[in-house]
Amino acid sequence: MSKKILVLPGDYIGPEIMTEAVTVLETVNRRFALDLELELGLLGGAAIDAHGVPLPEETLASARAADAILLGAVGGPKWDNVERHLRPERGLLGLRSALELFGNLRPAILYPQLAAASSLKPEIVSGLDILIVRELTGGIYFGEPRGIRTLDNGERQGFNTYVYSESEIRRIGHLAFQLARQRGHRVCSVDKSNVLEVTVLWREVMEEVGKEYPDVALSHMYVDNAAMQLVRAPKQFDVLVTGNMFGDILSDAAAMLTGSIGMLPSASLDKNGRGMYEPCHGSAPDIAGQGVANPLATILSVAMMLRYTLAAPEAAAAIEAAVSAVLDQGLRTADIHGDGTTLVSTREMGAAVVAALQA
Ligand code: IPM
Ligand code: MG
Repeated sequence: MSKKILVLPGDYIGPEIMTEAVTVLETVNRRFALDLELELGLLGGAAIDAHGVPLPEETLASARAADAILLGAVGGPKWDNVERHLRPERGLLGLRSALELFGNLRPAILYPQLAAASSLKPEIVSGLDILIVRELTGGIYFGEPRGIRTLDNGERQGFNTYVYSESEIRRIGHLAFQLARQRGHRVCSVDKSNVLEVTVLWREVMEEVGKEYPDVALSHMYVDNAAMQLVRAPKQFDVLVTGNMFGDILSDAAAMLTGSIGMLPSASLDKNGRGMYEPCHGSAPDIAGQGVANPLATILSVAMMLRYTLAAPEAAAAIEAAVSAVLDQGLRTADIHGDGTTLVSTREMGAAVVAALQA
């Protein structure tokens, strides 16, 4: 039976990088006879323009019916002035929440060819391979009450609620430990339990979950120290597991270690392994429309989709090998370009990956 992939290009550079990723997906679809059916949908600013809301009913229905979702990036200054609950980001958060995509996998892998593009010294980052497992449907991103209110003295006050229930911590914990079993057998749980009660509970529950995985070493780190360690000695980590907001911040920092956030894919999984796949980077309004964005994060997200949701590991490996091959050829988009390499456009980079796949 054919499998349905919902493609949501999104905003600004979203459609540019998605065009290349879809060409790659169609290439492996044919070559590995995957029987995938692609459907296009609107999310974020593109959906606001067409339907007045960032997550239209139609998109949500297609997302529920799909086996996997491939997303470009949403948001940008064009929608800065829309009401808060209608912002493009709300569409993304709404989709994560509605589909219960609680497990966000953000690998930070340094391709040896890009060691010079990292902002850190090569010896600190060469061979880097860490996996950030970010809780994605809870924490301060979704906690109620939230809002901006006016106090009796006329002053405005903004407030959010940082809340995690035991079951939410437990399920992301299990995911992190299971993933660690397929890698270096080490989990570092990141919290702020010296200050925040919610993460005191986080640490306790991680300890309990850890007892079920005696073959995996569990350690804990405060988030401020984790941020420092990520730029000091990132190779000490294997799997990092943390809540929604800390994960948002740490994954951007980890991304930069690899040379460019334009290289990093991500997966957001539900409890059955169904998922949404997207680059870690945003919609990059500053470079949109110029054909210079790096499509590799989205192309590598296709590989993650094939591996984690579509059970097509050979196709995933073929894409990863093709990406490595184009880097070997010295092809670089502007974000990773340096001396002795060849500057290429979004389109040329996509075409080179397709050519490597067909070689
Ligand atoms: C990310 C992004 C999103 C987030 C934004 C666009 C809502 O920064 O996926 O990391 O904060 O989760
Ligand atoms: Mg982010």
